[in-house]
Amino acid sequence: MDALCWNHPAISLKPTQSSENHAFLTPKSSSLLFHCRAVMNSSNPESKPSPLKIQNRMFILGMGFVGQFFAQELKYSGWAVSGTCRNLGQKMQLEGRGFDVYVFDANDPVQDTLKAMKYHTHLLISIPPDVDVGDPLLHHEKLLRTTLQGGDLRWLCYLSSTSVYGDYGGAWVDEDNPTNPLSQSGKLRIEAEERWINLGNDLGLSTQVFRLGGIYGPGRSAIDTIIKQRSLSERQQRRARRQFTSRVHVQDICQALKACIQRPSSRRFYNIVDDDPAPREEVFSYARDLVEKKWPGKFDTLSKVVEESDITNGRGRGDKRVCNARMKRELGVSLVYPTYKSGLQSILDQMGDEEPL
Ligand SMILES: NC(=O)c1ccc[n+]([C@@H]2O[C@H](COP(=O)([O-])OP(=O)(O)OC[C@H]3O[C@@H](n4cnc5c(N)ncnc54)[C@H](OP(=O)(O)O)[C@@H]3O)[C@@H](O)[C@H]2O)c1
Repeated sequence: MDALCWNHPAISLKPTQSSENHAFLTPKSSSLLFHCRAVMNSSNPESKPSPLKIQNRMFILGMGFVGQFFAQELKYSGWAVSGTCRNLGQKMQLEGRGFDVYVFDANDPVQDTLKAMKYHTHLLISIPPDVDVGDPLLHHEKLLRTTLQGGDLRWLCYLSSTSVYGDYGGAWVDEDNPTNPLSQSGKLRIEAEERWINLGNDLGLSTQVFRLGGIYGPGRSAIDTIIKQRSLSERQQRRARRQFTSRVHVQDICQALKACIQRPSSRRFYNIVDDDPAPREEVFSYARDLVEKKWPGKFDTLSKVVEESDITNGRGRGDKRVCNARMKRELGVSLVYPTYKSGLQSILDQMGDEEPL
């Protein structure tokens, strides 16, 4: 299948290896999908007919960077994909790409959206905890539990973070190491992990938690930071300075998710990171060299500013090297981008030869 460009001009996707697996080859029936949409948007989602059961249907809570990337991959493989975003403009954009989208604020959940969720077969939670309230949707856990009972859901995955491990002084950590987050957000993550796992388990679903390293990919990487820093918002700049010694390309997150659907488990935690937990300054230095080679002299000074602020601000935020052996062993994942070097090179290659604006 040819690559498909979407949303961000730099993003180009190809189905990953696991697209060849059974669950990703279900033929797409546009009439069934249309029917599915019509029923899910109807005022009475309880009256859903049984034909819906013949199709794989993913619901993504929080169609952000990973959510959109994954949605696109699933769509390639014939899945029906629905999800949430927080504003109408984004909803229209995502609907234009063929997804069923609900405007949804997890702080104030609309019950019809929760009902629609229940008639999907798979659920991915990508909404992060809020520092003031914790996991916003779990604030409405009772409503969530009652609404989701007796539906079609059979698989749930919560996207968490390797920040739950805290500081291991640069040592290797795997899923059996105790969690000891330094930050409040890390503590809230652990609480959210436990509660989503319990909820899924109580509903009789296959449940798993993915602890993601620093996520990068087309449109969000050290290369993009160097090129775009002049126009980065303050929020994005803060994100750019965060220290992650472990990272993972979004395409590898997607293939791990697909592998996990093929090999569902119960109450299982997986570190989803690459093989090469390098210091951030090393990554930025490599990215700067790549950019300089491609567009000599253009971004040199600006990128050094990022690098320095990165080093200054990044220290002491939980140094560790996160091990991905379980992901490989149990899910059979073979990383497309085992190191930041191959990942960054592919991002640069996808940008073409024209100097970015
Ligand atoms: N970025 C990293 O390096 C990293 C590392 C480890 C783990 N994670 C976690 O992994 C998950 C996926 O990462 P990502 O980079 O794809 O995140 P992202 O792009 O920020 O996507 C998160 C999504 O959740 C939505 N959301 C946030 N608060 C919400 C609320 N109260 N109600 C409804 N929707 C809400 C966001 O909507 P808006 O677009 O409107 O904000 C967005 O669609 C997130 O939980 C993230 O925190 C990220």
